[in-house]
Amino acid sequence: MCGIVGILGTHEVAPILVEALRRLEYRGYDSAGIATVNDGVLDRRRAVGKLVNLSDLLVHEPLAGKSGIGHTRWATHGAPSTVNAHPHQSGPVAVVHNGIIENFRELRAELAGYGLTPSSETDTETVAMLAQHYLSEGCSPIEAANRTLDRLHGAFALVFLFQGEGDLMVAARKGSPLAIGHGDGEMYVGSDAIALAPLTDRITYLDEGDRAVITRSSVEIRDAEGRLANRAMKQIHMDAARIDKAGYKHFMAKEIAEQPTVLADALRGYLEDDRISLPGEELDFTKVERLTLVACGTAFYACLTAKYWFEQLARMPVEVDVASEFRYREPPITPGTVALFVSQSGETADTLAALRYCRDKADKIVSVVNVAESSIARESDLALPIHAGVEVGVASTKAFTCQLNVLLLLALKAAVDRGHMTQEALSETLSALRALPGILNAAMARSDDIERVARQIAEARDVLFLGRGLMYPLALEGALKLKEISYIHAEAYASGELKHGPIALIDKTVPVVVLAPRDALFDKSVSNMQEVMARGGKVLLITDAAGAAEAGQDVWQTIVLPAVPSVLSPLLYAIPAQLLAYHTAIAKGTDVDQPRNLAKSVTVE
Ligand code: M6R
Repeated sequence: MCGIVGILGTHEVAPILVEALRRLEYRGYDSAGIATVNDGVLDRRRAVGKLVNLSDLLVHEPLAGKSGIGHTRWATHGAPSTVNAHPHQSGPVAVVHNGIIENFRELRAELAGYGLTPSSETDTETVAMLAQHYLSEGCSPIEAANRTLDRLHGAFALVFLFQGEGDLMVAARKGSPLAIGHGDGEMYVGSDAIALAPLTDRITYLDEGDRAVITRSSVEIRDAEGRLANRAMKQIHMDAARIDKAGYKHFMAKEIAEQPTVLADALRGYLEDDRISLPGEELDFTKVERLTLVACGTAFYACLTAKYWFEQLARMPVEVDVASEFRYREPPITPGTVALFVSQSGETADTLAALRYCRDKADKIVSVVNVAESSIARESDLALPIHAGVEVGVASTKAFTCQLNVLLLLALKAAVDRGHMTQEALSETLSALRALPGILNAAMARSDDIERVARQIAEARDVLFLGRGLMYPLALEGALKLKEISYIHAEAYASGELKHGPIALIDKTVPVVVLAPRDALFDKSVSNMQEVMARGGKVLLITDAAGAAEAGQDVWQTIVLPAVPSVLSPLLYAIPAQLLAYHTAIAKGTDVDQPRNLAKSVTVE
């Protein structure tokens, strides 16, 4: 996945393109580039590494022009290098692309027959070459773009820019989102509305299969069948916080700290006194026989947590799977099934494909998303916002707890709808939930203790995480956070599973993080912890005061959190898991907000 932007402007576009790319860096950051048309001449600048390298290059080698396209890359075909960076240019055509052109090898072979050879390893360059070929056959730029698009298989968002055409961009969406921005005498196109936020709040989203011919004064959109299409222009309210660290050293630190506030806000969006009220259409769980939860990464761990909640509180059968496996398993979806998709970005390709698989099979498609205008939200019957606000750090933190929050509210609603929870019990849980933001703040106060332990964890080569029940998905999430940003190998196991094999890994060099509030499963967790310590393992126990008192003497380190009702423990225990990863990464000196090899939004399969 990559970020793309295009501008037909009235001022010099290079700095504006770079600024838009900065807001798209969450989609990839291994190289970047821009191309402009100036006095009819197409030219480009590209640099490997973060966007700052492109900015530096532009200082020494400026690029003039009032129309241009830009790209920030997450490599799929070909290593991150200047030559593989976008825009790709072939003669009089430049393109930027997000996605994958599946048939690029066949196209390359065909183009070789016309004497056109690529200079990069990318699939994208083939698109520019093909368009050049059609131009050489006498096509107009628009015809050349259309004929090229007709030949492409795969998923893409593409923008074409042509030599000699300072007032033309051709954009196409197939499987990757694209938004058109309307300015005053200017037009824009971008991977999302946030990229265009400082330029305009008037946005038209292209639908799947759409192509758009854009000039400074017009946009002509045609659908997948080539019919003229009327796509609504929306006024988008943008969260300016995206590029503001608000005094924190990293976005991740800011986003961890924001959790009490955003959770409190999110709750307000779902509660009417002591009743859970979903925004938009109501969901009647008495009519739901089975829930299928699908997501990727951290969002998947939120789903795994929700499985425990739905099963225990609402006695509802729940299937949960990672999107990339779910879709290709081709699971039968029986009548009475609600399919629920969880995604921060709302653009994750695997999750979106799984949603589309369920489209005509499930009774209802529900999504839990952070980006209200995202593809997943727009393709759902009911899209439930998590109200986390913009999340910039690649490692998801506040989105996770806000996803948990909405999923818990859904499970509570299901429990009441299905007669497994009284209104009184609901009111009690809701009042505990309302008090949770304050308790999360208290957990944040453990940050210094966690930092001290993290300095030692940073020395480890491998770390294990253990949890039982609701703490098992949290253990998985803790391990994912740690490996993502500190590059330490971390694995998580259900505590009871340790003795079935992973215990062989234990020795004094392997810290074992045990997440275990003093709940009904605590004694069993302590037994598993003893098994670790008996083999020389170093246990970092994250628990509450009662748990700390009962855990015994041999625990290496203990982090003590406030006690909360068991059902809320995942939301609380997420905080130390996040802080541990954060401080370990700081101790190791890694790039916390933009860790290597990753991107915030994964729009390729
Ligand atoms: O935007 P999504 O929630 O669909 O993203 C899913 C995963 O790619 C994401 O959670 C990823 O695992 C994060 N980097 C985790 O910190």
